[in-house]
Amino acid sequence: MKKFSKDFIFGTATSSYQIEGAVSAGGRAPSIWDTFSHTPGKVLGGDTGDLACDHYNRMEEDIQIIKSLGVDSYRFSIAWPRIFPEKGKYNAEGMEFYRKLAIRLKEEGIQPFVTLYHWDLPQWADDLGGWINRDSVEWFMEFAEKCFGELDEHVSMWITHNEPWCAAMLGYHQGEHAPGHTNLDEALKAAHHILLSHGKAVQHYKHVFEGKHPIGITLNLSPVYPASGSFHDQVAANNFDGYLNRWFLDPVFKGQYPTDMINMFSKQVPSYDFIKEGDLEAISTHMDFFGINFYNRSLMEYAEGAEFMFQGAESDYPKSGMGWDISPNEFKELIYRLRKEYTELPIYITENGAAFDDVLEADGQVHDTNRVDYLEKHLNAVAELNEENMNIAGYYLWSLLDNFEWAFGYEKRFGIVYVDFDTQQRYVKDSAKRYAEVIKNRSL
Ligand code: NOJ
Repeated sequence: MKKFSKDFIFGTATSSYQIEGAVSAGGRAPSIWDTFSHTPGKVLGGDTGDLACDHYNRMEEDIQIIKSLGVDSYRFSIAWPRIFPEKGKYNAEGMEFYRKLAIRLKEEGIQPFVTLYHWDLPQWADDLGGWINRDSVEWFMEFAEKCFGELDEHVSMWITHNEPWCAAMLGYHQGEHAPGHTNLDEALKAAHHILLSHGKAVQHYKHVFEGKHPIGITLNLSPVYPASGSFHDQVAANNFDGYLNRWFLDPVFKGQYPTDMINMFSKQVPSYDFIKEGDLEAISTHMDFFGINFYNRSLMEYAEGAEFMFQGAESDYPKSGMGWDISPNEFKELIYRLRKEYTELPIYITENGAAFDDVLEADGQVHDTNRVDYLEKHLNAVAELNEENMNIAGYYLWSLLDNFEWAFGYEKRFGIVYVDFDTQQRYVKDSAKRYAEVIKNRSL
């Protein structure tokens, strides 16, 4: 039997655009995801977040579901375009929604864990260049300061940014996420400004709030393996590790970008002069914890003619509904590496979970045994890591609800609660019941 300590935090997570809907309510203005999802061909099936899980109008019902799980904490994000629908114009009504949510959670004994940026940049900011424009750091600071000022007394922990790699690389390099650009130079600028805004927000919070609550960042990390022992595959794996992991880990923890990647990117990046003096110092400002979203390992092979010589390789691992390798052992290896090479900070698994093709039975049950299995394997890994003093302080299951899975629309279901998107009816899946049981027993 695996045991979890009394102070280990069990949680579940969502993000604003993926669940809220109500895109014009309460003074909200469009975000880049409204624009992107309404652009034909960008999202599978033409799905948008217009209604999503209608969480904006069903907050109380969803809080009751969260409560029924027995979790210690709930992680959600704040939609920036609800707070600043126009540049410099604060919308108090937007803030009230999150104040109420945080207060109600606390009343139910659930700690609110708040992410400031989970990809829904206001469209007005994109019209001014978005994250490519260095002024975005100032716009983000105005938003962050307002959230800290209005909500800090109700919030337990803060995350500045969720998965800057996705916001920058999927948004500006690969074009798969909003705003849909395909330019590496822009992507590196976006990544830099996002990281800089993180560092500055941490500095501001620590200065003004004297570190009242823990603050950190969440990176999406994937341990990378070469498909074979060949030199070429090892180069491919190293390059992908640089592109996905080190380009973000190194500045945050070491105050520098990885030299091998600077050199490799420089064919497409005419100048690195967007990195100004003092930036890397700000980016590496000491945080209170480190957040990781973990889903899968990456198996890479050499690809002649590919942009950075890598491509994903075929693997014989069992897969989730996203086609991602189910790899709890490699998750442990990732943590060992982080402990060795990067940080001693408490680590929160701010997301872990899996999409599967769930079936809603006639009696309202969803027997998602594959998700139960995924959950147990990863919780087991967390427990084992803690037996080895790896200091994993908490685990947030992604996601509370089936929701808008970005470019995949509603096709991919990550929830532990099934959502019928025609009726908005929620159905608790077996995985949610199993999770509640583990939490109750604090053991597996
Ligand atoms: C990480 C992202 O933060 C979240 O928004 C997304 O739904 C999950 N990965 C699953 O892809």
